[in-house]
Amino acid sequence: MTQDEMKKAAGWAALKYVERDTIVGVGTGSTVNHFIDALATIKDDIQGAVSSSEASTAKLKQLGIEVFDLNNVSEIAVYVDGADEINDRMDMIKGGGAALTREKIVAAVAKKFICIVDNTKEVSILGDFPLPVEVIPMARSYVARELVKLGGDPEYRQGVITDNGNVILDVHNMKILDPKVMETKINAIVGVVTNGLFANRGADVLLVGTPEGVKTVTSK
Ligand code: A5P
Repeated sequence: MTQDEMKKAAGWAALKYVERDTIVGVGTGSTVNHFIDALATIKDDIQGAVSSSEASTAKLKQLGIEVFDLNNVSEIAVYVDGADEINDRMDMIKGGGAALTREKIVAAVAKKFICIVDNTKEVSILGDFPLPVEVIPMARSYVARELVKLGGDPEYRQGVITDNGNVILDVHNMKILDPKVMETKINAIVGVVTNGLFANRGADVLLVGTPEGVKTVTSK
């Protein structure tokens, strides 16, 4: 089974968590693209979606799913998104696709976060995947120096501008032993918009595509 087939299996498995006649929160990435394909098969049974990126918005619209502005939506029952790493406490690193800020906003509104991954994303300690940090452009060098003080090795993601007009620093070589504390510390640096640790609001349900089928994990 290929990695993409495992992503697809996880993406389609998320369909059963979608509540009829609601607005669905939709994340970003190659795994979510499979979920959007699945969602299109029940598009007449949902009101529409709130999207976490221009890329997902384009795909949703192309498949005939209405996309709502989050400011006009008071409730999202379920948010479905991928991750770059997830540990057994349901803390995640996200933002490989640079959509972390909008993802974190939609996740904050949602009642339930369904994380869909292939089995390469499960880790015991977060940090092998470089942690993305979205930064206001003029603060880039200052924030990089502050991230070094926290023990990281930040690298400017060349040529990438986020949907919000900002830049990304990818922080290498961090063993993140306390994700909640690190998430809060990085977010406190002036000039940081947000960072890709999703620990203070982690996943509620994890669907992992494996060669043996889709494994379901529920947060304790
Ligand atoms: C997008 O910014 C990310 O948070 C994605 O959710 C993450 O990178 C997972 O992407 P894939 O599903 O493409 O692996």
